[in-house]
Amino acid sequence: MYAQISRQLDQTLNVKKGEDESLLSSSPPDTPKLIHGGNYIKEGRDSAKSTCLIFSPTEEDEVGSLGRYLQLFAKHKVNLLHIESRSSLRQPNSYEFMVECAPGGNIPSAIESLRDQCNYFSIISRNHNDNMNTVPWFPRRIRDLDKFANQILSYGAELDSDHPGFTDPVYRKRRKYFADIAYNYKHGQPIPRVEYTPEEVATWGVVFKNLTKLYPKNACREHNHVFPLLIENCGYREDNIPQLEDISNFLKDSTGFTLRPVAGLLSSRDFLAGLAFRVFHSTQYIRHSSKPLYTPEPDVCHEILGHVPLLADPSFAQFSQVIGLASLGAPDDYIEKLATCFWFTVEYGLCRQNGELKAYGAGLLSSFGELEYCLSDKPELRPFDPPKTALQKYPITEYQPVYYVAEDFEDAKEKMTKFAQTIPRKFGVRYDAYTQSISILDSKQQVEALVNNVNQEVQILMDALRKLQH
Ligand SMILES: [Fe+2]
Repeated sequence: MYAQISRQLDQTLNVKKGEDESLLSSSPPDTPKLIHGGNYIKEGRDSAKSTCLIFSPTEEDEVGSLGRYLQLFAKHKVNLLHIESRSSLRQPNSYEFMVECAPGGNIPSAIESLRDQCNYFSIISRNHNDNMNTVPWFPRRIRDLDKFANQILSYGAELDSDHPGFTDPVYRKRRKYFADIAYNYKHGQPIPRVEYTPEEVATWGVVFKNLTKLYPKNACREHNHVFPLLIENCGYREDNIPQLEDISNFLKDSTGFTLRPVAGLLSSRDFLAGLAFRVFHSTQYIRHSSKPLYTPEPDVCHEILGHVPLLADPSFAQFSQVIGLASLGAPDDYIEKLATCFWFTVEYGLCRQNGELKAYGAGLLSSFGELEYCLSDKPELRPFDPPKTALQKYPITEYQPVYYVAEDFEDAKEKMTKFAQTIPRKFGVRYDAYTQSISILDSKQQVEALVNNVNQEVQILMDALRKLQH
């Protein structure tokens, strides 16, 4: 859901940015800026516009040679925000450096001089549109997701004029409270527990009661399997809004997924990148009490009733991660295609189980009306086929006229994996769960190391199979 709404807001923000350029750029980066219309917008820090360079010195260089390269940046008046060195995974006995350049100075000249002196050289930039030779920036380590907090497209109390809470100052204040929690959140911290007000709990109660009545018949098998576990372990009850921290811990034990509170709308690129790390960005606020069965945006009901149960299913978790990994460093048009596939699966997907149609998309499992409508004979059904599904247009404020039906998650995952292979990208990516980081596979040595890993897994498999036969 974020993916689509954020695309719209991206355009809105661009207009507003133009109008308020001076205001936005002159204020300190950590405070939300009040812009025309009374909305808050958080502007990304300068580091969001930084350029990352990864390079290996030529073979005869020593680790101490970093100093010589750093002088090169000074010569071109480029400030560095971060410097890191490590043993190269691409070439034996050599080192690799990662430097993050602040905007300003003569970065293109520094890059040109550096490129000539390196064995390996790669540019990762937020401003990749300016330069077709760069890879769009993506997080390499799980803690890089902290950077998204500063790159949201809208902030907290910003509500459209047709939002049910638009004229309610208490609600808007509350929204800012939730946004601030998320904005200050850092990887590794527990998600702050929230004391929900009686009014908020009552809103949740209405949603919970109405939806749980429909689940046994309309939700997919996996959702119904996990739901009792959430009642038992995470306090899912009509009179209690479960805490994100408890749910995140439960998911971690189930599939390694974790939740991160999010302060506002993320771009599709950033939202999908989180999935590559098995991190799901979740809202923590609840919809306005005047319309408990309606919300124009994701809220805690949507996240924890719609998304969470499926994230605890191993096969679905893998499917979600496949979409996330495919998005890393992908060109903009493919991000849109992946976001559309996400929309028609994770948000609005249907599947067939024992000959019956069931809902597994979170947008359906959190919508009282659409959960019944989607299984009626009104909408059009098509088989999930990523190359075609990725091109389908869709409305975001009304029931979907078309749904895509997956055979099962394994099948959907295989199709998504094949589709991902068509994305033009010069390297492979792999998530390393031990270091919680993304490996870029673009050298023979790395691929050999991966083959060794797979070999090890196959040995474990063979051993287990042998034991099963006795
Ligand atoms: Fe969603």
